[in-house]
Amino acid sequence: MSETTPHRLSGKRVILGITGGIAAYKTAELIRLYKKAGADVQVVMTPTAEKFVTRLTLGTLSERPVHAEIFPENELGSWTKHIEFGLWGDIYVIAPATAQSMAKLASGMCDSMLTAVALAARCPILVCPAMDHDMWEHPATRESVQTLEGFGYHMMEPEEGELASGLIGKGRLPEPENIFKRTAEIIAKSASKKKGRLAGTKVLVTAGPTREAIDPVRFISNRSTGTMGYEIAAAAERRGADVILVSGPTSLEKPEGVHRINVTTAAEMYDAVHKETDAELIVMVAAVADYAPANPAQSKIKKGGEEPDLDLQPTRDILASLGAGKKKGQTLVGFALETDNGEENARIKLEKKNLDWIILNNPNEEGAGFGTGTNRVTMMGRDGTEEPLPMMEKREVAEFILDRVLGEDS
Ligand SMILES: Cc1cc2nc3c(=O)[nH]c(=O)nc-3n(C[C@H](O)[C@H](O)[C@H](O)COP(=O)(O)O)c2cc1C
Repeated sequence: MSETTPHRLSGKRVILGITGGIAAYKTAELIRLYKKAGADVQVVMTPTAEKFVTRLTLGTLSERPVHAEIFPENELGSWTKHIEFGLWGDIYVIAPATAQSMAKLASGMCDSMLTAVALAARCPILVCPAMDHDMWEHPATRESVQTLEGFGYHMMEPEEGELASGLIGKGRLPEPENIFKRTAEIIAKSASKKKGRLAGTKVLVTAGPTREAIDPVRFISNRSTGTMGYEIAAAAERRGADVILVSGPTSLEKPEGVHRINVTTAAEMYDAVHKETDAELIVMVAAVADYAPANPAQSKIKKGGEEPDLDLQPTRDILASLGAGKKKGQTLVGFALETDNGEENARIKLEKKNLDWIILNNPNEEGAGFGTGTNRVTMMGRDGTEEPLPMMEKREVAEFILDRVLGEDS
């Protein structure tokens, strides 16, 4: 896995269903692989599976409580969890799947959390059977497999080899690495089926402020909350894009389906952004510090000592550097926060930094700029267009901006 490109499973939600087969022990490794790739994992298991592997192990590795019973004794109000999980997952992987559980799934039985989630799931389901060779060959099992395939479930054939019974034959659970790969393939396929103008497109968005250290406890920053950038990231994701959000420090929750990279300083943001320059659309919303203390103090500056001399030096200009290296077919959108001569300054910035669009807003205008849920912006295009948009919720502003950039009507 490369350090720069997030894995296809990053930010994806995997429900892992474990049934009572001897190969259940291998799921500990499978969870580890999913987690390492940045996926969220929710384990559900049959009560029998608990005889093979403990909830403690699975819950610890997945960092989520494991569910087995459809009617848990001590959790009032949680009886709808199977529906919740069914809607939550991007994929439901059942591994290992016993002959018994497959027969239940094939007949629509839902007497456990694991089987009920399968009926409630809206996501793709991957079934990985594992059992003794003769059980696998039995007509009842063959029929279950056929029925599940007929439901549109993805099936992963067991492998040949030595079985836990000591017999040799087909029935082994595929290695966790292979189940992991197949999971990623299915997710990628279902992502490419994602609807929307931006399906299959990589979009890079920056958001929030940066912080430049003065000493270990103090920093220079600005009033950006990150809201506008987060809304643009979420809007692009809703249109089917693969979104990378490089975010300065904010208190905002990561938008669903978006891959977030957290940074603190302008220099860190510069590096993170430059690892993602293959994005087809780049929207730079972050309020990046223009200057940073040249020599931040290593220990806290004390009151009463010598008056501190804040020697500032310019940070590297991320937008200018992206503009200079702009790739063919790439669209680069910048934001300009101007208090004076807005239009004029924004147009100069657009030209100088080789942008396709610049979004102008004025923090002194009521309801616009930092810390508000609304914004009023003017969109300025490279072709000379200039469109002042009315005051709107930032979510709507984000939709408008994408409409204009993609040449769609709103
Ligand atoms: C030691 C042991 C190992 C087992 N391994 C498997 C297996 O690999 N595959 C299988 O289909 N059943 C296996 N079984 C049988 C299942 O545990 C049994 O059918 C159980 O009812 C499955 O329940 P579940 O599908 O609800 O988890 C095994 C049973 C024992 C005692």
